[in-house]
Amino acid sequence: LEAPKLKDFISIRDMDRPFIEKMLKKADKMLPVYKKRESLESLKGKVVATLFFEPSTRTRLSFETAAARLSSGVVTFSKESSSQKKGESFHDTIKTVEQYADCIVLRHPLEGTARYAAEISEVPIVNGGDGANQHPTQTLLDLFTMKSIGDIDKLKVALVGDLKYARVMHSLYFALSMFDSEVVLSSPEQLRMPKDLTDEVEGVFGKKADYQDIEDIDCDILYTCRIQKERFMDENELRRVRSSYRITRDVVKEALLMHPLPKVDEIHPEVEASENAIYFPQAGYGIPMRMAILEEALR
Ligand code: CP
Repeated sequence: LEAPKLKDFISIRDMDRPFIEKMLKKADKMLPVYKKRESLESLKGKVVATLFFEPSTRTRLSFETAAARLSSGVVTFSKESSSQKKGESFHDTIKTVEQYADCIVLRHPLEGTARYAAEISEVPIVNGGDGANQHPTQTLLDLFTMKSIGDIDKLKVALVGDLKYARVMHSLYFALSMFDSEVVLSSPEQLRMPKDLTDEVEGVFGKKADYQDIEDIDCDILYTCRIQKERFMDENELRRVRSSYRITRDVVKEALLMHPLPKVDEIHPEVEASENAIYFPQAGYGIPMRMAILEEALR
C-alpha cells in the first residue's frame, strides 16, 4: 500500500513513518540529480511561491533551487516590498498568491500560521517554519542526512542546546521517536524541551525524555542549534542563558556534528574546523529532499 499523499507539509505530526520513509526514498532518487547539478522537467509549467515573513538563507534558497532543478518557475516575496506594508492582511495575501502560484512555501514568526494558511488556501502550503513550533521540511532533510550516515533505527542521537525555542528540535524529536533510534536530550535547565511535547512523545510512542549532562553525552550524531534569541520575550531570560552551552571537542568526541544553521558562537572553532562537522553537506541535502517535497505537493 502506498503511504497517504499529503497536500500540505505543515507539521511532522501529520506524517507517519511510512510517509517519511517514502519521502526518504524519493529524495534518494533526486540525489544523483543534485550531485551532478542537473535538472529534471517534472514541474515544468508550475509556479512555486516563497513567502517569507522572517529571515532565511537555507530554507528559502534551497526551495527556490529545488524548484529550479525541477524546471518550475518561482515567484517570491519580501514583507518589506509587498502590500503587507500598506496593511494588507495575511488572509488576503494568501488568497491572492494562490491565484498566481501552484504551491506556497511559507515562513512566519507566529505559531500556527502555516496551518491557518493551509485551511484557507486552495494550493498546497509547505511550512518553512512557524515561530517556535515546527520546521517539518528541515526534519525531513535531517533524517535524510542521518540515513546517509547509517540506519536511523540504530543511531544514537543527542539533541543539544536550545530545545525550548528551536522549532527544528521540536520536529526532529517527534520524528526520531517514530524510529528505534536512541535519543538523548541535553540543554541548560531553562531551555528544556516543552513539557507538552515530551509528554506527547511519551504518550504516543512510550518514550520518556532522557536528559543528560553535556559532558556525559556519547552518541553517533550530536545535533545542536544556536540560542533562538528572537523568540525570547524577556531580555533578562536571554541574558541568563546566553553562551550557556558550547560544543567543544570534549563534548563532540567521535560524533558527527549536525546543525540546521545559522550558527553563531555555540561551536568551538576547533570543532568547526574538524571533519566531525557535517552541517554544510547537511544543508546541501536540503535540495534533494525539497525537490522530493515539491514533487509530492504538486503531483
Ligand atoms: N535551517 C534553516 O531553517 O535555515 P534558514 O533560517 O537560513 O532558512
